[in-house]
Formats: sequence, C-alpha cells, structure tokens
Amino acid sequence: MLSLRTLPLSKILKGTHVIMRVDWNVPIEKGAAKMSEKIAREIPFIKKLHERGAIVLLLTHLGRPEGREKKFSTRSLATVAHVTSKLPIEYLDIDFSTPEGSKRFLKGLSVAKPGDLFLGENVRFQPGEDENAAALVKKYAAWGQVFINDAFASCHRSHASVVGLARALPSYAGPNLGEEVRALSFLLKPSKRPYLAFIGGSKLSTKLPVIQRLLKIADKVYIGGAMAHVFFAAKKLPIGSSLIEKDGIKIAKKLLASTKKIVIPTDAIVAKDIAPRARVHRSDLADITETEAIGDVGIKTIQDWVQDVQKAGTIVWNGPIGAAEIPAFSHASLILAKAIALRSQKGAYAVAGGGDTLPVLAKSGMEDLFTHVSTGGGAMLEFISENGNLPGVKALMGK
Ligand code: 3PG
Repeated sequence: MLSLRTLPLSKILKGTHVIMRVDWNVPIEKGAAKMSEKIAREIPFIKKLHERGAIVLLLTHLGRPEGREKKFSTRSLATVAHVTSKLPIEYLDIDFSTPEGSKRFLKGLSVAKPGDLFLGENVRFQPGEDENAAALVKKYAAWGQVFINDAFASCHRSHASVVGLARALPSYAGPNLGEEVRALSFLLKPSKRPYLAFIGGSKLSTKLPVIQRLLKIADKVYIGGAMAHVFFAAKKLPIGSSLIEKDGIKIAKKLLASTKKIVIPTDAIVAKDIAPRARVHRSDLADITETEAIGDVGIKTIQDWVQDVQKAGTIVWNGPIGAAEIPAFSHASLILAKAIALRSQKGAYAVAGGGDTLPVLAKSGMEDLFTHVSTGGGAMLEFISENGNLPGVKALMGK
C-alpha cells in the first residue's frame, strides 16, 4: 500500500505561510460555482489550519483556460471564493504575467495576519503552470514556507502548482490526498476476489490504458456507456444511429480477441433520440434498427451484472453505464450504484469515482455506503493504469 507523509498540525506555528493545492475545479452554473464534494471535503482541514493561525494560500485550477486573457471569464476563482461561506476565504487576484503583478503578489500577502485564508486566482492563468516552469514556481515559493497537496484529482498533471511546488518547498500530502492514495492502492493488489471493474463513458481511446491495466489485475471488466458501441460494431452487431468512436473499432476487436475477461452488454434501452422525454424501449442488440440509438444497457444486462456484483470481493466503477444525465437512460447506472453499495455493506471493497459518476452516486443516495468515493476523474484512471505512479504523488515522495 502506498502511504504518503502528511503534516502533523503541531508543525504549523502561528503565522506559518502555507500554500495548499486543492482541486476546486467545480461546475459553474450561470456564472456561479456550485458547492461540491470537492470543496466540502477540504473545509475541515482548512478550518484546522485557520485555527492554528496559519496564513493559507489555496491554489486550484478551474477549467482549461488558455492564458490570462480569459481572466474575466467564468474561469476566474473570484466565482468560487464565495461558495466557501463556512470559512472567511478571501479571493486573491494573482497575476504573474507582468512584473507589476508579480510584485503585487508579495505586497498583497505582506499585510496578512495569522489565520487569514486566501484563494488565489486560477493557477492556469499563470504563464508556465502547465509546463511546470521554474520561474513560476519560484514566484509562489518566495512567499510559501510549507506546501500541502490535497488535490488528488490534479495529481496526474505535472504542473507547477502540483509538482513544482512539492519539490521547491517542504511538502506534505493533505488528509484527502492521503486517503485517496491509501484507498485506491487496494485496487492495485486486491486481496478479495472476484475483482470486477465497471468502466463506462463515451470514448474507448480515453479509457484504453485503464482497461488494459484492469485486464491484468481484475477478473472481469464490464464495458458500458457509448464506449460499448465500438465493441458491438467489432462484433458486427447493429448499433443503429448510436454515437460511435469509429477509430475504436479496431482496438475493440483486438481486445475481444485477446481476452475472455471483457463483458459487454447483451441488450439495450433504445430510442429515436437520446434526449429528455424520449420514448424508450428495451431491445436485443440484434434487433436494433437504423433509426434507433442506444441510451443505456438493457434490463437483462443489468440483471446479469447485478448477480455478478452480489458475489464480488472487490469492485471498481468509473463512468456511468448509460447516458445517465438523462433520467430515462439513468436506470441501469442507478441500479448498479445500489447493487455495489449493498455488496460493499456485505464486506466487498467497493470504490467508485470519476466526474460523471459522482452525480449518479449522489442521485442514488448510496455514496456513503461505498468503501471509498474518489474525487479523481483522470487522476483515478491514471492511478490505476500507472500502478499508483502519478506525478503529483511521486513529487511528494521526493521522486
Ligand atoms: C478533473 O476535473 O478531473 C480535475 O480537476 C483535472 O482537470 P484537468 O483534466 O483539466 O486537469
């Protein structure tokens, strides 16, 4: 099991300058950030730092903006600071793109008092963030005394605020990062079998590395979501007007020929359009017509999958198995959530994660019954496919 050095709070003296990387890349609706699990999980630890009298600069990215010109877009962290009303967090407009902006950074923080909490501007507005530029790291580090990374969901990025700062300052894992790494490590060498992996989503190309890895360590890999369509096409089954990543068909053929561990749906929920209020019905795969599109796995499929879950020892789930954002196509994902949660209560090790999976879990009301729910999307997938070797985690281990 991987374990990371976390910071004993006794080391935080009054007035210590703490730079803490969080992942508050949260949904923005109508220009306002929504409270999310990613923020909620950080509040207790930030509160402790605040009570110890640390001066904390929280850093996060928000979306994938291209440079400073997008500052006044909804990608500014000014839209997120107010969400954390449980704590007095003040937005700090950092702009390292000009010498004046860089000077303002140190000046702005020089008046800070013990216990003050700041949320810095989007790290991706700063030149050099994605490239982990030494010059950028130096600017942050000129103020910081301690670096805490609690942003598991960003640990697959070799960026300045993830990797650079971990190498430049005395650095520690925050409690949530420590817990994510501990919990996900069990998926790499499971002690309870059968080990079942459920992978949904739309693109096989994105999920291919994790599927390849899981085919080595798990007993069965179940494929759901639009990604399953390439496997249907590879088996020459009709998919009607369903969404398909054509380049994936060849890969799917190879995968199917190389292993018996892959399980694909045997029936589907179809409609003329994958849209709200669509008229849906169950169809055997062979019967799908040209004008029908697949929106979810079928009733027979989910019954079979649930039966397997009821015997599982370890389960990992990433990605809804249907177009779960539309209620008519969310049933199988909700049933799967319930089945895994119940199995987890009977002693199975059950982990779920991924940006699209969390809303399904929330809707099912089952999230607290899982052994662990990861906030990582790409980071969770890469943690598994790279055997725990994420750049942000390695940097904390001095690698
Ligand atoms: C996520 O939402 O998965 C993380 O915040 C990472 O975002 P990124 O893929 O833009 O680096």
